[in-house]
Parts: sequence; C-alpha cells; structure tokens
Amino acid sequence: MTDIRTVGVIGAGQMGAGIAQVSAQAGYDVILSDIDQTRAEKGLAGIAKLLAKGVEKGKIEQADADAALARIRPAGDVAPLADAQLVIEAATEREDIKRTIFGNVGPLLGADAILASNTSSIPITRLAQAAPDASRFVGVHFFNPVPVMALIEIIRGLATAPETVAAIEAYAVKLGKQVVHAFDAPGFIVNRILLPMLNEACFALGEGVANVKDIDTAIQLGLNHPMGPLTLADFVGLDTCLEICKVLHSTTGDPKFRPAPMLVKYVEAGWYGRKTGKGFYDYSGAEPVPTR
Ligand code: CAA
Repeated sequence: MTDIRTVGVIGAGQMGAGIAQVSAQAGYDVILSDIDQTRAEKGLAGIAKLLAKGVEKGKIEQADADAALARIRPAGDVAPLADAQLVIEAATEREDIKRTIFGNVGPLLGADAILASNTSSIPITRLAQAAPDASRFVGVHFFNPVPVMALIEIIRGLATAPETVAAIEAYAVKLGKQVVHAFDAPGFIVNRILLPMLNEACFALGEGVANVKDIDTAIQLGLNHPMGPLTLADFVGLDTCLEICKVLHSTTGDPKFRPAPMLVKYVEAGWYGRKTGKGFYDYSGAEPVPTR
C-alpha cells in the first residue's frame, strides 16, 4: 500500500485550502499548488487566518498551528507535486479543466503515487481516463467547510484498485474524518440526495410558493437543518449547484434532476452566491438580505 507522507493539493480555493489545512494538521507535508504563486499564497494566508482563530478560541495550541503552517509549501505550478505520494485535485468543477490538470500532473507522479479528485459529481471512471493509471485514481469528496465537516466520501471507479481505496481510507481516517464508501454512481451519495432538495427549493421559489427567507426558515426550523436550502446553495455556489444538476440530469436522463429555471437564471446573472457577494441573498451589508 502506498505510504503517504506528502500530500499535493491542486487548487488553493475554499476546498483546496481546507484540504491542505486538515492534511497539515494531521502531520502530512503539503504542497498547495495553483495556477500562479499569488493564488497559492492567498490560499495559505487564509489557512493562517483560520489557524490563528483556532488558537484565539483555545481550540489548538500556538505551537501546533505554527507547525501545521510550516508544513504547507505554496507552489505556482505543478512541478513540485512530483514529491507527493497523494495528489488531490480540488480545482473548478469542470471536466475539461480537470482533464487538462491530470494531463499536466500525470507524467510527474511516482510509480505508486495516487491521484484523487474532489469532484462533487463528475464520474470517477470517466475522469480516470485522463489519469496515468486508472487503478490508482479515486474520488475523495470533502465537504465545506472542510475543517468543520466530519465526512469524507470515497468513490471507487470501475478500475480503482482495492489498495488505492485502502490507502485513501487510511489517509482520511488519519485526518479524523468519518469515511463512507460509494460506487461511481451519479452524485455519489450526498449530492444525489442533497441537490434534488436544493433544486426543489429553487423550483418552489420560482413558482411563488414562498419567498427566499420563508423557504429557508421553513426547512431550517421545520427540519432542524443548520442552514436553509437557499442559504446552503449560496454557500456551495450556485454555479456548482447547477453543474451538479446538469451532471445528474445528463448521466441519468431522469427528468427529476432537470435544473430549476430560477437556479439557471441566478447563474446567468452571475449571482453565484457567497463567492460573488450575491445569490439568493446579498452579502454586501452586515447581514445577508434576501434578493427575492
Ligand atoms: N472554515 C473553517 N471553520 C469554519 C468555517 C469555515 N469556512 N465556517 C465556520 N467555521 C467554524 C466556526 O469557526 C465555528 O467553530 P467553533 O465551533 O470551533 O467555534 C463553527 O464552524 C461553527 O460556526 P459558526 O458558529 O460561525 O456558525 P454556525 O453554527 O452557523 O455553523 C456551519 C456554520 C458549520 C457552516 C453550519 O451552518 C453548517 O454546518 N452548515 C451546513 C454546511 C453543509 O451542509 N456543508 C456541506 C455542503 S455540500 C458540500 O460541501 C459538498 C458538495 O459537493 C456540494
């Protein structure tokens, strides 16, 4: 089984930075790469801020935060990933982008290195075709915010080797996460069930059943969810929600997964949620304000 000591993370955005942080806190050396050094450094600065907050709240020791931060090496290209036994791709949820990345990083990887994708819904078996070895390719699905969420979904493609699954499970357990296993079916477990709910909330909004605030309040308090579905959709990113709906719809052909027109409309407007400052809520003020 591959002995993982250094973890390479591709993409220093919200998910990639979270993966780098929890990996470093678990004692792995981490290479955090993005398309340029500035983005990688920005990811590292965000991690430093979260670790400092943890120290402030008395959740972690200063020395542990310093040690975790020192284990993360930012990189403006993929070359340093040659040192990693596990490389996790956490780039934009678009198949063409992920395929290009695998084409670039594949030739650098060692003979028993594992390549993993944090994709939310793109089939692992299909993505594996762009990897150097489909038997050492696997899905490792983290949840946002990564340091807080206890779950990792491990997704095996048709050709993923049992040793690859065992190595990635050992890594996930070392992070202190709870593991669930899924076969490479559309949306895996969580998003197959989550996205129809978020999408249905968009249908309900579009059909005038209730406004944004009441839909969220109804589900948050009526079902005891930490966030209402429209708040959660903004949190995940409406562009990402739409991409996942499209994948579920196209891979199953089942009309129950068709994207809600209101979701499409918000994405067409460029209102992607928290990351653009506006989605079902406007985040420009002190408190989020519903946009409908
Ligand atoms: N990064 C790190 N830590 C964070 C954080 C972030 N972005 N946001 C919040 N936290 C921490 C806070 O620091 C706080 O920590 P302490 O308990 O140690 O003080 C803790 O989380 C709780 O935060 P708050 O008190 O500020 O707020 P809250 O109680 O409302 O919790 C939440 C915030 C944890 C995000 C909670 O609302 C929640 O669990 N929401 C649902 C999140 C969810 O469903 N995520 C999955 C999305 S789906 C996905 O990711 C997969 C996909 O493919 C689409």
